[in-house]
Amino acid sequence: MGFGTILQANEKGTEAISQTEDAVSAVSEEIYEGNIQFWERAWNMCKVPYTQLPSLTYIPRIPEALTSKRVKRVLDLGCGSGWLSVYLARQDFEVVGVDVSKQAIALAETWALQEDLKIAFSVADIAELDFPAKSFDAVVANSIFEHFPLQVAEKMAAKVHQILADDGIFIGCFDEVGGGPGEHYKLADGTQVYTDKARQGMLLRRYSQQELQHLFKDFASITTDKVDADSTFLVAMKKSA
Ligand SMILES: C[S@@+](CC[C@H](N)C(=O)[O-])C[C@H]1O[C@@H](n2cnc3c(N)ncnc32)[C@H](O)[C@@H]1O
Repeated sequence: MGFGTILQANEKGTEAISQTEDAVSAVSEEIYEGNIQFWERAWNMCKVPYTQLPSLTYIPRIPEALTSKRVKRVLDLGCGSGWLSVYLARQDFEVVGVDVSKQAIALAETWALQEDLKIAFSVADIAELDFPAKSFDAVVANSIFEHFPLQVAEKMAAKVHQILADDGIFIGCFDEVGGGPGEHYKLADGTQVYTDKARQGMLLRRYSQQELQHLFKDFASITTDKVDADSTFLVAMKKSA
């Protein structure tokens, strides 16, 4: 499974498994898959779409930034049940939404249908996106990167850069709230792997400002600011050809 193979062994797990790369890889795959399974279980608890926008103060800033860059085609990375895709499609952006959860995409499709919005939703693992280079004017990702370990997030940021058109824009919100303490252990890079019943397998990592600068280093400019309960709103611009 794509990026899963590059995860580091976790602090506890290394004692228990052999030191071979295969074993580390196997444990890592399991951790990566555990996160996916957590999200599918979580989405399976939602039977009908929750058709409200979340109460986040930065939401209007997203279409504002996209409009200022004359964006048409937008990829909503890890779209969940589709609130951001729907919000943008209502404003006439051409939206593609991808999420690894079949149920999340089914909910998103139902919602879009209810509003007669044409949004191209599909089930896909972010690690295996196969959009051609320069496919999108913009990529948006709300509360996504923090559910991946650093090395995976690095690959994701590089992929975002690749699929963005020249002068393309990435907008990400890095949530500081989600998860809560709960039972978890930590991977070597600080990623929390939840072990309590409700969130078994969920990954959560908080990125420092320095790490965010590092993640989006290929971009020509990066701005960040703090929004809603200390989350980070990040805008990264790809440079022209
Ligand atoms: C915190 S939710 C955010 C969803 C949505 N962006 C929002 O703002 O409501 C994280 C999302 O990432 C999705 N996800 C987790 N791992 C993924 C993967 N490997 N590929 C694609 N989506 C993934 C989950 O299914 C979930 O919908």
